[in-house]
Amino acid sequence: MKLAVFGTSGFAREVRDIAVLTGYDEIVFIGTSPQNSISGCPVVTEQEVVSLERERWMFTIGVGAPKTRKQIWGRYPGLKYVNLIHPAATFGFEQREELLKQTGNIVCAGVRMTNQIRAGSFCIFNLNSTVGHDCVIEGFVTISPGAGISGNVLLKEGAYLGANSCVIQGKSETEKMIVGCFATVGAGAVVTKNVPDHMIVKGIPAK
Ligand SMILES: CC(C)(COP(=O)(O)OP(=O)(O)OC[C@H]1O[C@@H](n2cnc3c(N)ncnc32)[C@H](O)[C@@H]1OP(=O)(O)O)[C@@H](O)C(=O)NCCC(=O)NCCS
Repeated sequence: MKLAVFGTSGFAREVRDIAVLTGYDEIVFIGTSPQNSISGCPVVTEQEVVSLERERWMFTIGVGAPKTRKQIWGRYPGLKYVNLIHPAATFGFEQREELLKQTGNIVCAGVRMTNQIRAGSFCIFNLNSTVGHDCVIEGFVTISPGAGISGNVLLKEGAYLGANSCVIQGKSETEKMIVGCFATVGAGAVVTKNVPDHMIVKGIPAK
């Protein structure tokens, strides 16, 4: 199987590792400028995207920043994007199947998603992060390593959760704790109140 990874950063290399583990045997990176191979895989520029598509390559966007990820998708919305799920991620009842209805998600080693979670597309669930029951994770959300999303939380489109941050639980399924669109939660922060769209918060409690 052939997979083209947008991005050439350290995270893109981690995405390549998941792809190899899950059966992709031909991988290229798509960078912004010509450069040498990365992790033994060739690097091409975006000029090659049309021919890769013609040759039936599949695609993923290995870029942690939600805005950049959405911009790349916006340039190439019609490609065949796949979900990549590390074999050491675990899921509650029917949760894996639910996630696979979406496209372009990347789930790293050690992730735990429990159940009745609705996820969008093009999200990143990075190493050892957890998502509890009844959460709604909209598209282009990034959950960094070790972040803990409690039950009844709504992460709106493009929300970015820093490493080891924590979002405490919402009051109920209908009164969720909300992190707004393209808002940023700093590393190690504890979110105890709704975070408005585009706001950056940090610390304990997050402000
Ligand atoms: C919160 C964050 C978004 C702020 O970024 P920023 O606006 O560029 O902030 P700066 O680096 O200019 O720092 C501003 C101040 O906030 C402090 N600060 C930065 N990040 C902080 C954090 N996570 N928690 C508490 N304080 C933080 C800095 O020490 C600095 O304090 P000072 O003014 O007393 O020196 C960023 O630091 C962060 O935590 N990003 C997430 C990184 C991450 O988790 N990456 C995962 C990669 S996989």
